[in-house]
Amino acid sequence: MTRCLTLVALLIAAGGLTAQNARIKIDVDRTVGNVHEHLYGNFVEHLGRCVYGGIYDPGNPLSDENGFRTDVMEAVVDLNPTIVRYPGGNFVSNYHWKDGVGPVDDRPDRMELAWNRLESNHFGTNEFMDYVKEIGTEPYFSVNMGTGTIEEAQQWVEYTNVKEGPYYAELRKQHGYPEPHNIKYWSLGNEMDGFWQMGHLNAEDYAKKAREAAKLMQLTDPSIKLIAAGASNFRPDANPMEWNRVVLEELKDVVDYLALHMYVGNPNDNYYNFMATPLVLEQRTHLVKGLIDEMMSRADRGERDPIYIAWDEYNIWYRWRSEETMTGTRALEEKYNLEDALVISGFLNALVRNADVVKMANMAQLVNVIAPIFAEEDGIFRQTIYYPLQLFAQNMHGGESLDVYVDSDTYDTERFFLGLGESQAQLQDVPYLDVSAMYKENGEVYIAVVNRHLEDALATDLICQTGNFTGEFEVYEVNGPDIKAGNDFSGEQVRTVKKENLAVGDGERVTYSFPAHSFTLLKGKVSK
Ligand code: AHR
Repeated sequence: MTRCLTLVALLIAAGGLTAQNARIKIDVDRTVGNVHEHLYGNFVEHLGRCVYGGIYDPGNPLSDENGFRTDVMEAVVDLNPTIVRYPGGNFVSNYHWKDGVGPVDDRPDRMELAWNRLESNHFGTNEFMDYVKEIGTEPYFSVNMGTGTIEEAQQWVEYTNVKEGPYYAELRKQHGYPEPHNIKYWSLGNEMDGFWQMGHLNAEDYAKKAREAAKLMQLTDPSIKLIAAGASNFRPDANPMEWNRVVLEELKDVVDYLALHMYVGNPNDNYYNFMATPLVLEQRTHLVKGLIDEMMSRADRGERDPIYIAWDEYNIWYRWRSEETMTGTRALEEKYNLEDALVISGFLNALVRNADVVKMANMAQLVNVIAPIFAEEDGIFRQTIYYPLQLFAQNMHGGESLDVYVDSDTYDTERFFLGLGESQAQLQDVPYLDVSAMYKENGEVYIAVVNRHLEDALATDLICQTGNFTGEFEVYEVNGPDIKAGNDFSGEQVRTVKKENLAVGDGERVTYSFPAHSFTLLKGKVSK
């Protein structure tokens, strides 16, 4: 077999055979589902320097009169986060929201037990809402289902969403906010399946508590959307699909999303294994989709949409995982490189490919803590993972995801751990080209391609099966000198580069060579 391949390689080198191009076929009539803008959300948790020393740094010369860091805010706005989750994470499971409202000097200092800090509560509900309004995004709140009560959850909705009358609505007005915040998205706790979660419950107990919290919250504001905590514990001894089944069974008439979480890493420094990790997110999406479909066939939801999936935490997180690097004021300050940016591109492709069922996703987190933006007291830099997320957030929504056909060489992974504390995976026939595509009614087409190949550029025929490509494609590429290249305060080796436009004329086929270890976004037009 190897000899035969060598002969083929020699023949190709001698010009005796032509290497077969890879192929990407798109058909603008073959659609999967609408790509929701909320696929490109982020997450702000009271953890390390995400809030304090991240988005909020009163007294810093770079901060405005609200204490918001203006350089951080500029990078956040450029990233275009479409929805931001707050205030946790593990933090929320022992967070009592009343500690974080009212005159700042009256707010209590608390022991923060999830990440081992002192929580001043100087930043809370209203400060976050001020921030959200400044950056122009949608807020998404999480209630405490660990040590919190269902009554406390109800009172939070009353405080934020009821215009006037009851005690907590009037309290908000006294705090200087005459108009309600109208927070639409609320999750019923965080990772409640995890033994690490403060107030962790078994599936039955969680589902019952979440159902009653949902009842009170919806009675307070019937317009809210609720997100149930799906499985996040994928350790070998856990039974995540059983958790999902129990929770969906109990909440199938009530909630709007099931939240899933996934963190991956490259602890054994195996590039090709690592590159395949987004396909596991896709497998889990398919598994949960099947479960949701089955539940929806028996649900009584009236006019409501079916339950969707919210991947409301995902990222790469394996370096800052020791006891010291997971606690205190500098927790989880992971620095990213090119291979991480390519894995993020793969995650985003997987989300778009499954746009029929995935309607929200939040990169965890926004600043400093496993984040696309890194800040010190005197400045910031954009991490490598910032750039693919930005390209997707600025371009890849508002149209129909396409069911893309990809034909490229493939590889098999070893059996490997997905990340620390995670289960193992082994994948076969992983294509070197990872693709998603979207088509808009106005004829615009977007094709997002990761070339996972470490050494080779892949010449690829892009084929349009209904209508023709017309005009030119804009080409945006995220790449760098090598897969370990990263960004820091001295400069950015990995970022988006706008390449020369690709002329496509008016035809059904165009060829493009995707460089080794790159992410490319092609933006063009199809005329039907
Ligand atoms: O994002 C960091 C942590 O990861 C979150 O607090 C928790 O939900 C998850 O385990």
